[in-house]
Amino acid sequence: MQESSITKHLIEESGERKLPDPLYTNAGEQIISTEQWESNRRPELLEMFKEHIYGRSPVNRPDSLSFNVVETKSVMEGNAVLKKVDISFEGPGGKGIIHLKVFVPTNLKKPAPAFVLINKFNDEQERKEMWGYSPEKSMIERGYGAVFYCTADVDPDEHDEFKNGVHGIYDEEQRPSDAWGTIAAWAWGASRVMDYLETDTDIDSDKVAIVGHSRSGKTALWTGALDERFAFVISNESGSTGAAISRGKIGETINQINTKFPHWFNDNYKSFNDREFELPVDQHMLLSMIAPRPIYVASASEDLWCDPESEFLSLSFATSVYQLYGFKGLGTKQPPPIDSPIIGDQMGYHNRYGKHKLKEYDLVQFMNFWDGYFEKENGH
Ligand code: GCU
Repeated sequence: MQESSITKHLIEESGERKLPDPLYTNAGEQIISTEQWESNRRPELLEMFKEHIYGRSPVNRPDSLSFNVVETKSVMEGNAVLKKVDISFEGPGGKGIIHLKVFVPTNLKKPAPAFVLINKFNDEQERKEMWGYSPEKSMIERGYGAVFYCTADVDPDEHDEFKNGVHGIYDEEQRPSDAWGTIAAWAWGASRVMDYLETDTDIDSDKVAIVGHSRSGKTALWTGALDERFAFVISNESGSTGAAISRGKIGETINQINTKFPHWFNDNYKSFNDREFELPVDQHMLLSMIAPRPIYVASASEDLWCDPESEFLSLSFATSVYQLYGFKGLGTKQPPPIDSPIIGDQMGYHNRYGKHKLKEYDLVQFMNFWDGYFEKENGH
């Protein structure tokens, strides 16, 4: 089995966590160039994450995919236009529609950079009541487009034996043990959102970030690994099987997540319940697949279920791949104090004071980071 060669190449500084090194292939070859990374190791890692954790989707972009702008209206006192777009698809088991909401700032002379927010709400009012602020307003004010993608349009968040949503539309009768789970299904939907955004001339599709909180943060990371069209990938408190490394993690374990949410990942993942040290990958390798694109990981100080320390370490141990591309990464191996964001070279991180939530504070840090990135790109 692969494991013997993998255990030979642990990251030395990972100590008791004994993390596998992203820069050694399963055959034990060291990766020293971006070419080797891209042609050899990155694809190998992607396959392992499909095989052991998130699962393989039976479909990419379906031929039946179509977009229909069903409504356009001026909102936020004329500061934004809201477009409601139906993204429709069809397969052997039926049809589905993503009801996308696209808010575009009206004061820009060029296509807008945008954030795609993965979330469970299809209604602005409901979201505002739950979150206590209006994310679209914060983003429009700063000149960003805000795109809301509701995961329930693609797959319900319950263990329904994969009868509904895209599973019902595309899955085979007998699902193999590496078949996609719900997180991978949601990530598939996020890529269909990008398919649409590439056709929308109000949005600069080369500058689209993907962001999600918690289960949607896990989805944002998996989307970012699979779909390199997303220019910036953001995880807010994604915790177990998201940003946080599994080996030595406090809070939610692989066993707990698989038991409570058996539909999120593939069946193979369940064989790693209480065996995280035998997984050939760990979550820092998921983050490393975002390289060289910018990545931001956010934790919350009281969110020990997610485990801020394991989220920070994960980002820290993904740095070697960014360095291969000539970026410094975070520039420190020390977790920062609470409420002190690190704006590094292609990598950002903060540990906000408080509980598990996507707060306006978090969004503001993501926008600050991206503003800075654009300024750097423009040579300011
Ligand atoms: C649960 C689950 C987490 C998940 C969270 C959320 O707490 O255990 O893995 O991230 O729900 O989505 O809010």
